[in-house]
Amino acid sequence: VTAARARDRRVYLRSHPILFALLAATRHRPTLRLGGTVLVHDRAAYLAALTRVPFDRTSERTTGGAASRLAGAGAVFDQQGDAHRHARRHLADRLGAAGVDGLRPVWTAVLRARLAPLATGGRLDLVPLVAELAGATTAALLEIRVDPRALADAARAAAATAARAHLPGPGRRHAGRAAAIAADRLLALVGPRDPANPGRAAMLAVAAITTTVAAVPRAAAWACDDDLWPYAESHPGELTDELLRVVAPTPLLPRVAAAGADLLPHLGAGAGPAGPGGGCPVRAGDRLLLIARHAVDAHRRDPDPRRPADARTARLVFGAGPHACPGARLARAQLTDVLAALAPYRPVVERARADRRSALPGWASLILRAGA
Ligand code: HEM
Repeated sequence: VTAARARDRRVYLRSHPILFALLAATRHRPTLRLGGTVLVHDRAAYLAALTRVPFDRTSERTTGGAASRLAGAGAVFDQQGDAHRHARRHLADRLGAAGVDGLRPVWTAVLRARLAPLATGGRLDLVPLVAELAGATTAALLEIRVDPRALADAARAAAATAARAHLPGPGRRHAGRAAAIAADRLLALVGPRDPANPGRAAMLAVAAITTTVAAVPRAAAWACDDDLWPYAESHPGELTDELLRVVAPTPLLPRVAAAGADLLPHLGAGAGPAGPGGGCPVRAGDRLLLIARHAVDAHRRDPDPRRPADARTARLVFGAGPHACPGARLARAQLTDVLAALAPYRPVVERARADRRSALPGWASLILRAGA
């Protein structure tokens, strides 16, 4: 195990140790049924689940369910049918090539302002920097004037408290109240933008900010520990894709099937891991845990910008099918620019502290200093 991989594991071991152990212990099975829950590790089965199984987007047990509790009905995640398609098309325009180019000056300004300490031999905590960058970009995307750090804090708190309120246990009522307060704070910040549907803006802020704040520092730490900085100059696109692949920022996608399907039809009736009747049959109401991390080989293939995984595989970290991440282009552009801005300093990690509370595995603080 490389130093980079060993460090990155800490983000899981700190925040989700039992889940991480369960996933590691079962990953040699393409899929595995545990009662009404199906763990999906295999790439083909993951893709089949995302593209061929209709999901119950409003179930309490999915991202959509959590989102609707967070922000009220109408969030991007849980809209159905025409409303969802319309909202997605609008967002796709704003997040297309021209839209992303238009947003770029927002985050490059943050990078210019905040990277100065590295130039003078100082320390830099990358996590608040990325939070500010993500907050500023999201505010620009939503066309609202708010303090970028306040927006990022509110979105991260809303996601973290919603995730905790989701866990069973004695603290649940208290966690539920904290989640409601955090959601209200976020809605108050973004609400005026879309009075008819403040939930949509709130969910977009959560989707954009929590993923970026989790992904970019983990990717940068990996680049530090594996000394991948030269690739930020020679193979920038490949470095970004490979780091997103091994980091797999949303490692597990929880979904609930709204109808039955077979996830591994090529295995044929009776031959599959789920027993007789097909490769891996799922039924309406089954809970699916789609393990993006394993579908893209994050756990067993180190990043190699000279021999990257094929793009179709790497992009599975952004999901697939009708709900695939509309922000993928923006996320890749931001990571590429952060890596390019850091690379000349050949930074190293001085100290890293995992975030125990965040909804996605990530660092609470990542202190860098110039290496060369
Ligand atoms: C590295 C960063 C990111 C990762 C790994 C990521 C990953 C994902 C994944 C896995 C999904 C669910 C896909 C599916 O169910 O098929 C998703 C949905 C979504 N993402 Fe991202 N995302 C990232 C950044 C962003 C950014 C920067 C934005 C916005 C600017 C964004 C906006 C959204 C939205 C709005 C959805 C919901 C789409 C829908 O339900 O139709 N994401 N993302």
